[in-house]
Amino acid sequence: MKKESPLWYKNAVFYEVSTRAYYDSNGDGIGDLNGLTQKLDHIQHLGVDCIWLLPIFPSPLVDDGYDIADYYDVHPDLGTIDDFKELVKETHKRGMRIIADLVVNHTSDQCEWFKKAEADVHSPYHDYYVWSDTDQRYTDARIIFVDTETSNWAWSEKTQQFYWHRFYSCQPDLNYDNPAVREEMKNIMRFWLDMGIDGFRADAVPYLIEREGTTCENLPETHAYLKEMRKLIDEEYPGRILLAEANQWPQDLRPYFADGDEFHMAFQFPLMPRIFKALAKQDVSPIIEILKMTPSIPDNCQWCTFLRNHDELTLEMVTEKDRQFMWQVYAPVNRMRLNLGIRRRLAPLLDGDAKKIELLYALLFSLPGTPIIYYGDEIGMGDNIYLEDRDGVRTPMQWNNGKNAGFSDAMEETLYLPVIKSDQFSYLHINVAEQMQDDSSLFNHIRKLLAIRKSNPVLAEGDYEVIPHTSDPALLVIKRSDPHETIFALHNLSNQTIAFDLQSHLGHEEIIYNLLEELPLNEKCCQLRPYAYTWLKIANSD
Ligand code: GLC
Ligand code: CA
Repeated sequence: MKKESPLWYKNAVFYEVSTRAYYDSNGDGIGDLNGLTQKLDHIQHLGVDCIWLLPIFPSPLVDDGYDIADYYDVHPDLGTIDDFKELVKETHKRGMRIIADLVVNHTSDQCEWFKKAEADVHSPYHDYYVWSDTDQRYTDARIIFVDTETSNWAWSEKTQQFYWHRFYSCQPDLNYDNPAVREEMKNIMRFWLDMGIDGFRADAVPYLIEREGTTCENLPETHAYLKEMRKLIDEEYPGRILLAEANQWPQDLRPYFADGDEFHMAFQFPLMPRIFKALAKQDVSPIIEILKMTPSIPDNCQWCTFLRNHDELTLEMVTEKDRQFMWQVYAPVNRMRLNLGIRRRLAPLLDGDAKKIELLYALLFSLPGTPIIYYGDEIGMGDNIYLEDRDGVRTPMQWNNGKNAGFSDAMEETLYLPVIKSDQFSYLHINVAEQMQDDSSLFNHIRKLLAIRKSNPVLAEGDYEVIPHTSDPALLVIKRSDPHETIFALHNLSNQTIAFDLQSHLGHEEIIYNLLEELPLNEKCCQLRPYAYTWLKIANSD
């Protein structure tokens, strides 16, 4: 059964999954909804509360499904609406929830609406999109896919006009000044919510409305529409959630929570690259600085924190100098770079170093926010930088060391993308089956951390405070507390042993309990080996 609290997302763990990549149930080389349903036990076993499903709609797949051709159906490769309903039912049966991507900003140019819009300028669908006779409007809007696009306007031969697009030119932006579009998107929401899903991860929300003389991002008119979406949830589907994908600086992110009446959650974009920077510099100040810059949010809201996702590791929210530094350290080979980011998975970014991978997860789990894990990163999957666009981080899930990594029975040549086979990250040794059997595997470590986090809600919902590091810049000590308990989470981001004296932060009567080893700690001075972390619970001795 699902947990009943309407604030369930405040203490939860999310898991991002690509249906296409997860498990192929019918042997055609493509993962599908029935395959995902068959693998729900794995997700549940990890300790996940909510699945986020990447787009599953009919699409020409130029942007891997973020170019939607029909919002009211499922891509035939992945299955049917009935398969989807079954997935939702089975997810709920296991006490988990499931949210889907809602691509609000744009459609595919293969969408019937756009085809009609192009075929007849008098069609009501023409006004579904943003047209112009010149490409010199909204010139202050940045280009997002800088490696492929040179303008946010594209020429339509059919209408002899330009149309507006923030992403690929095959993804025309919808016109949110048109009431019909506003209604259509709400109907799409209802269509999927009626099938029982628990909410949406709303894609690319800063860009809904354009105004001359602005960057066309985060506009008040855009926020007004997002609030209408929230109102629909509150009035018609209470308990479901909206999660914002707004890749913005903290001060621009904060308004997406408004007064607790816009998004329930938003990704903590600026924090993510700073975790990697801190590790590379062996200095935690970038993390501390961004946490300081991050405003507090209403009580019914929560951040969603992550290390990696299906996109490039975005470096949009860092300075030019930091971007160059991050590229140098984490993307030394040109093919590792994409747009303003790095197209690599977590494990290869950290050279497959198990200690560093675990450390970053532990850090993520003790910071404020609901963590989200990208499929495959729970076993330390590798990537393939020789694939196009972001495909290299979207390869088949590695279930075992058998044919096609246990992902599919199909001929290897017909897989939607090749499995990772080479060297260090080969499925022959990086796979679920092996890690399940090994107590010290990454999978089991993450599972253990998540279980401890679950039984100590202060880690998810308590107040947090960063203890200033007096001894060493590579030491991050986070204190989480509520009226009932206090936990100190210690992280050593360096290759040296660091000592931390807890004594000065404690009362006389208090003892320290090491949550990770399930042991009281006698020493009040903790030694942290290189890249070590620990969670210490403070309890009264009586
Ligand atoms: C979001 C998605 C990304 C997609 C883009 C355009 O940023 O995460 O994968 O390419 O929107 O829809
Ligand atoms: Ca299939």
